[in-house]
Amino acid sequence: MTAKSTARLLRGTPSTLARLARRLRAGDLVAVPTETVYGLAANALDARACRKIFTAKGRPANDPLIVHIHALAQLSQVAEINAAALKLAKKFWPGPLTLVLPKKPIVPSLVSAGLPSVAVRMPSHPLFRRLLKLTGLPLAAPSANRFGYVSPTTAEHVRAGLGNKIKSILDGGPCTIGLESTIVDLRDPRHPRLLRPGVITRAQLERTLGVRVLAAPSAAKAKTGAQLAPGLLARHYSPRTPVTLHAKLSRAAAQRSPAGEAWVFLAQPRVVAGKNIFWLDANGDLPGVARRLFATMRRVDALRFTRIHVELARGKGLADAINDRLRRASAV
Ligand code: TXA
Ligand code: MG
Repeated sequence: MTAKSTARLLRGTPSTLARLARRLRAGDLVAVPTETVYGLAANALDARACRKIFTAKGRPANDPLIVHIHALAQLSQVAEINAAALKLAKKFWPGPLTLVLPKKPIVPSLVSAGLPSVAVRMPSHPLFRRLLKLTGLPLAAPSANRFGYVSPTTAEHVRAGLGNKIKSILDGGPCTIGLESTIVDLRDPRHPRLLRPGVITRAQLERTLGVRVLAAPSAAKAKTGAQLAPGLLARHYSPRTPVTLHAKLSRAAAQRSPAGEAWVFLAQPRVVAGKNIFWLDANGDLPGVARRLFATMRRVDALRFTRIHVELARGKGLADAINDRLRRASAV
């Protein structure tokens, strides 16, 4: 799939973390574990360092990066804060929530893709937190995958995609959440808008803020180009194999299908078995589905079926986030 890997998977020992912090301060890239997906990190205040992220990922310059911080005090260094942002930060940080706020001049415009706003998140993964603290800098980090492909949820996934572009991958084990953070636009605190659904749901944000949060533009709308949030392309997170979505997968259809087509159920199906049958969580529990979604899509994609049939999640909240990723994976 890729040229020979030169990247090393590193355990987060104190001496390794100290070395990686020095690398980051010197302007190098380091792939890092987060609770959502692995990120490709660089000093967010150094445009030259951040340019390397775009090059390594093959990411277009109009797709802005998320800036990661270790402490709340760093938020006002990079963004104009407001009361709504502080409420959400106090409730959900460290954790899988990204806030879009007006940008401070210290953040290079390359990071925000020329926008006057910046996306900021305080991650909860203990190794990434230690690294952030050691560097003492905000770190820009998009997902550590080749642009457009499925996001990485293990250090091996990062190596498979970017192994010949970067030197160091900090291995923090499989990501516990498995979907990218919820993104909320808080530039106008009275009219917050969800830009990307995630495990922190719109209902949770509304309860904390006490105001209505506008829904994310649907993948279908994004496809027509209308209301396209920057970087939120209709086609994204995509395996190479074509994906067909189903409100409910029928066991009978799976059994009748040609062996060259893969079937990915939410829960382990009873009776049907075969090399083309997969499931995301034994019981179909949504946190498990979310955690294994990207790893399963990668595994099935590598088996070169002619088509991947996937069952959509049912319900609201986390189901919306899972289905958002599936719709983007199936967009053509
Ligand atoms: O969970 C996550 O958010 C992971 C980990 C590594 O933290 N990061 C991540 O980044 O998923 P990624 O590759 O999805 O890219 C960041 C996205 C952009 O594509 C865009 O949709 C949004 O964040 N974004 C960044 N800055 C923005 C801004 N100023 N305004 C609106 N959206 C922005
Ligand atoms: Mg991404």
